[in-house]
Amino acid sequence: MLRPLFLYLSRNDLARRFVMGFPLARRASLRFVAGETLDDAMAAVRAFQARGIHATMDHLGENVYNEADTRRAADEYVELLERIHQEGGWNGHIPHCSVKLTQLGLDIGPDLAEENLERVVAKAQEIGTFVRIDMESSDYTDATLEIYRRLRSRYDNLGVVIQAYLYRSERDVRQLIEEGIANIRLCKGAYKEPPTIAFPKKADVNTNFVNLMELLLSREALEKGAYLAVATHDEKMIAATRAWEAAHQVPRDRFEFQMLHGIRRDLQEKLAAEGYTVRIYIPYGTEWYPYFMRRLAERPANVWFIVSNLFRR
Ligand code: FDA
Repeated sequence: MLRPLFLYLSRNDLARRFVMGFPLARRASLRFVAGETLDDAMAAVRAFQARGIHATMDHLGENVYNEADTRRAADEYVELLERIHQEGGWNGHIPHCSVKLTQLGLDIGPDLAEENLERVVAKAQEIGTFVRIDMESSDYTDATLEIYRRLRSRYDNLGVVIQAYLYRSERDVRQLIEEGIANIRLCKGAYKEPPTIAFPKKADVNTNFVNLMELLLSREALEKGAYLAVATHDEKMIAATRAWEAAHQVPRDRFEFQMLHGIRRDLQEKLAAEGYTVRIYIPYGTEWYPYFMRRLAERPANVWFIVSNLFRR
């Protein structure tokens, strides 16, 4: 019952202004967000690196409606990439970055978002790293996949996200495999979607997640160059992936596990210690509100956990 409430609040401007003006909320967001500055984010990336865990960095922001602000958002990603390059010392595991197309202007128009994204992807290519386009709500799925296809024909350091809760995802995955461009992060899906578009029951989302994982790690998909990032904290999804890997001798360089900063650190470390590639999604910046609300929606018990911790100090 609380999930729809938090997802509604994530899009509500009044609630955003109220929560962001509340210093305790900012402190609470730090469970999931590395901090407000690039320095905070780089420190988090280095701490993971020291434990053999890789990173994808997200400069928070979404639904930006002002063109100049979208260009600034792209500039900030270019600066982030330059900083990664300048710092060096990545031992072959340079951080990736993750971007949202509505931060880069998709609400204004697809051409603007594509132009901004291209600047980021070109810079990433120049320094030898990878960009993944996050998937937002279903209003943007078609446009996101179109922009992915167009840019992917010119840059191979680009991947996209597929959400297991959408009915359409199996078709999208099959097409991307067929086209030889299935570099996919598979997740369950974090937005509010109607039952006409998305499986309303968690059990069905989980079944579809496993089906899509098996499709993406099938021999046919691997022969066509598929690469899969299994993005979940659900031990059942992880066990299913490992079972498929063992049964079909899937090479470990064809998939990785991804998790969010602040969630299931024990599991992150366990998988990394077992020799899997583990990549953590590290968000930073001042626009933490909608991201934070989606994390609360996924597990409303977080609210009580956070409140009790805040008052324990
Ligand atoms: P599920 O929700 O079933 O949770 C399984 C277990 O994980 C829980 O029992 C709990 O232990 C733990 N857990 C999960 N969420 C938690 C939370 N918020 N706080 C504390 N514990 C939690 N979505 C999307 O729509 N577009 C995208 O681009 C992305 N990108 C993305 C990147 C990465 C690296 C990850 C890991 C996830 C995403 N997501 C996403 C979010 C994803 O769709 C999904 O909402 C969350 O991962 C939660 O789902 P789980 O698969 O973890 O399963």
